[in-house]
Amino acid sequence: MEAMRLLHERRSMGKLAGPAPSREQLDALYRAALRAPDHKELTPWRFIEFSGEGIDRLGELFAEGEARKNPDLDASHLDSIRKKPKRAPLIIAVIARGTPDLPKVPAVEQVLSAGCAAHAMLLAAQAQGLGAMWRTGTFAFDPVVREGLGLGEHDEIVAFLYLGQPGGRFPPIPERDPAEFVERWD
Ligand SMILES: Cc1cc2nc3c(=O)[nH]c(=O)nc-3n(C[C@H](O)[C@H](O)[C@H](O)COP(=O)(O)O)c2cc1C
Repeated sequence: MEAMRLLHERRSMGKLAGPAPSREQLDALYRAALRAPDHKELTPWRFIEFSGEGIDRLGELFAEGEARKNPDLDASHLDSIRKKPKRAPLIIAVIARGTPDLPKVPAVEQVLSAGCAAHAMLLAAQAQGLGAMWRTGTFAFDPVVREGLGLGEHDEIVAFLYLGQPGGRFPPIPERDPAEFVERWD
């Protein structure tokens, strides 16, 4: 896909079907992520890939986190949370692996770099005909989920990228006029 068209026309796809992206497609996603801008070359990125039973284990963590916050939640609600990761055949958690105490690269810059990595992965997915959706919900910030995924004190979950084959039609691209967002100092 032509580069400018991809940048202008990227769309999320929430409805995802199997099969999961191939190893080659995933490798292309990671290579795109690893070209994210990166102040001081800290490479502040870590990825966890979930498929098959891994998706079920992620769902368990989501449900466990929710139950901890909300002990009165009924079983059917909890079950719907448990099933959330099943909306895609493959999920990649994008994690900003934080290096503390760097005055020139504060934590926010490391999180931004991981955000750029996630965006690059969305673009690389669309370029290969895959569907992709960036989700966080409340789960990215949940202490049970953080612990279950082995996050350190300075790490942040930036994205759960839901990936698969597009299972529906892409909605139209919203019309946005750059002039409404840009101020010029000539
Ligand atoms: C940090 C971040 C977290 C997001 N989390 C969610 C989410 O949990 N659920 C959701 O429906 N959309 C979420 N979105 C928005 C979608 O990924 C998507 O961008 C939005 O539906 C607009 O579609 P588009 O990307 O095609 O413009 C999130 C986006 C970002 C940048």
